This record gives sequence, structure tokens and C-alpha cells, in this order.
Amino acid sequence: MGKTIRFGIIGCGLMGREFASASARWCHLTADIPRPEIVGICDTNESSHKWFTDNFPSIKTVATDYMILLGRKDIDAIYCALPHVLHEQVYIDVIRSGKHLLGEKPFGIDKPANDRILEAIRQNPDVVVRCASEFPYFPACQMLIRWLREDRCGRILEVKAGFNHASDLDVTKPVNWKRKKAINGEYGCMGDLGIHTQHVPFRMGWIPKNVYAFLSDIVTTRPDGKGGTAPCDTYDNATLVCSCNDKDGNEFPMFIETKRMSPGSTNDWYLRVTGMKASVYFTSDDANAFHYLYSEGKEQAWSRVAIGNKPLFPTITGDIFEFGFSDSILQMWASFLQEIEGQSVGFGCFTPVETHISHTLLTAALESHETKRAVDIVL
Ligand SMILES: NC(=O)c1ccc[n+]([C@@H]2O[C@H](COP(=O)([O-])OP(=O)(O)OC[C@H]3O[C@@H](n4cnc5c(N)ncnc54)[C@H](O)[C@@H]3O)[C@@H](O)[C@H]2O)c1
Repeated sequence: MGKTIRFGIIGCGLMGREFASASARWCHLTADIPRPEIVGICDTNESSHKWFTDNFPSIKTVATDYMILLGRKDIDAIYCALPHVLHEQVYIDVIRSGKHLLGEKPFGIDKPANDRILEAIRQNPDVVVRCASEFPYFPACQMLIRWLREDRCGRILEVKAGFNHASDLDVTKPVNWKRKKAINGEYGCMGDLGIHTQHVPFRMGWIPKNVYAFLSDIVTTRPDGKGGTAPCDTYDNATLVCSCNDKDGNEFPMFIETKRMSPGSTNDWYLRVTGMKASVYFTSDDANAFHYLYSEGKEQAWSRVAIGNKPLFPTITGDIFEFGFSDSILQMWASFLQEIEGQSVGFGCFTPVETHISHTLLTAALESHETKRAVDIVL
């Protein structure tokens, strides 16, 4: 059996459980990748502990104060999935404790918080720190990335990246922390969803030079879950128009949309790149398909290939079978474990430097919306 890396989880909610479950099916991966073992958990809500302790006999430390996990010598790395207002303090404390960190987006509630997290990383260069983003690991999206890397699209005409939900169209849905500016942050839906849309474009070198943003706060109050109403003061929908350069210096527009009120969308993550030679498209709504089009003649037709299970990190699953969300989480974790080991990976997790670009973009988007003009991105 290969190496084990001992993990603590801070934040035992929706995403904390996803990681724990992925760690429990590490046997799914056939490559020699260090195995994460969950040995500690922390959540202020004690009722969240039971699912973990019932399912993971390896857990030795159960805490409501995360500093207890950080003081444990038998924990090598931390997954932190907390509300945005807590990212800065907790990520900095994890980094200073010398433990590797996979943090969650937006990686600081705002740009000053992100700047301070990045300063802590600079002061602790031996710690491997990344930000979660799983959608690029769908095999059909990996195929799209290969086409881009092989320059098969030619000169880029435009890029459209989006992550959309519809569930907030239900105005009777109770408010939660993700709809409160004080906990979720000024960015609103952009902070919640934005990094997912930026991972592939930034990795391709498409760094926005400026942004024009249209932000909408459509539903301003929601049921508070206790019979009353509460403010819902975050942006519901965001549309950004950015200008980027391709590798040859040609300028093209990049559209980024992040919406909680997009009729018909359930967790719809997509990326569409059109080019002079070819165009490519992936959407999680048709998760096993890669779409491409050759720019031939006056009329063109999209082709759809069902890719099946051909992930970056090979698994026991036959390649004719379908790939899903929890598989993408497992692939992201495989990448992070390899990166902790200093191994090169075909497509790595979202990096701290990329979170800096993200925060610079989203801060400029807020200014653009306020001033109703395009704002330059100064990195
Ligand atoms: N990668 C993804 O696809 C994805 C999806 C959803 C959310 N997220 C991100 O994950 C993070 C968490 O989101 P979630 O949906 O899991 O939220 P959640 O509300 O389900 O879980 C957060 C947990 O943190 C706990 N908590 C709050 N304060 C704490 C403290 N001081 N110490 C310890 N625990 C505390 C809460 O009790 C809760 O159990 C956010 O940054 C969010 O943006 C990522």
C-alpha cells in the first residue's frame, strides 16, 4: 500500500462530507496516489459530527475549535469548507501551523482578505495550498482542454464561461448564509460561483485586461425559516464582459456569467470557445459529451461525442460508463494529493495566484457595476 496523508476537515457541511466520501473510495483510483485518511474533524455544529464518526473509524480527534486540529501532530493536511467570512482567519492559521491546505472558494471574503492569505503562503513556502474547483476534471472537459492546448481552435473568436442555478427562482426558499452579504461577502453570486468559471480560462492564459459588469439583486428578502422574513442582500445574477488576449496577442471578448436565477439551470457549468479553425463546448448538463465544430465552408455543424469514463487519473470504472459530480471531486482530490507530493499533474488544482486574479477581477466587477463603466484589471 502507498503513502497515506492524514487529513483534518474543518467545516463538516455539504462539501466536508463530499471530501470524506471521496477519501473512502480511494480504491477507485488505479494510479499510485497517496491516500487521504480522515483523522480529525471540526465543526461548531456538533450534530454534524455523527455522520463522520459513524462512517470513519480512523477519526481520532473531534472538535468544535479548529485550533485543536491545528495543534495535532498526527494531522498533515486540512480541507477547509467554511462560510466565506471565516476563510481569512482560518486559512492563515492553517498555513502558519505548517499543514497543507485545500481551501474553498472564493478563498477570502474579499480582496484584502485574499491578499493576507497569500502573504501567509509567501511566508510559509513549504506548505502546499490550493483552492477547490472540480468541474474541469470531467473527462469531456479534459478533452476540451486538450483541444485548446493543441491549438486546434486557431485564433480565438470568443470565450463564454458560466455557472448557473435556478433554485433561487423559488422565492419561498428560505435565506441561508450564502445569501447574506455579511457572511457570503460583497461579491454575492460571483464569489460563490466565479472561481469555477475561471479555472480553465485562467489556466489557458486568458487573463482579463478589463471588465464591464452587470450585477442584479433581484430578490431582496426571503423567508427566515422561522415564520418571518430576512434581508437577502447579495447579488443573485452577474454577467461580466472582459477583454482578453490570446497567445498571439489578438484581443477577444470573454463572457462570464454566474447566476442563481437562471431558469432551467441545475448546477449548469459550461465552457464554450469559438475559434477560426474550430469551436469546442462542454456543459455539465450533458456531462459525458464533448462538442466540437470545424469551421468549414459557409455552414457548419456541431458534432457530439460521448466520451465516457476516461478521466485524468485512471480508475477501475470501465471507460464506457458515465462520469459524474462525485467522480470529479475524486479527481480533484487525486490532483491535490499528487501536488502535495510535488508530482506534476496534467491539470492541477486552482492555485493561490489564480485566486488573486479572481479577486482582482471580482473587485473590478463591483466597481464597474457601481460606476457603469469598464474597469481595468491591474494585477
Ligand atoms: N467546490 C464546490 O463545488 C463547492 C460547493 C458548495 C460550496 N463550496 C464552498 O465550500 C465552503 C462551505 O460551503 P458548504 O456548502 O459546505 O457550507 P455548509 O453551510 O454546508 O457547511 C459549512 C459548515 O461550517 C460550519 N462552521 C461554521 N462556523 C464554523 C467554525 N467557526 N468552526 C468550524 N465549523 C464552522 C457549519 O456548522 C457548517 O457545518 C464555502 O466556501 C463554499 O463557497 C464549494
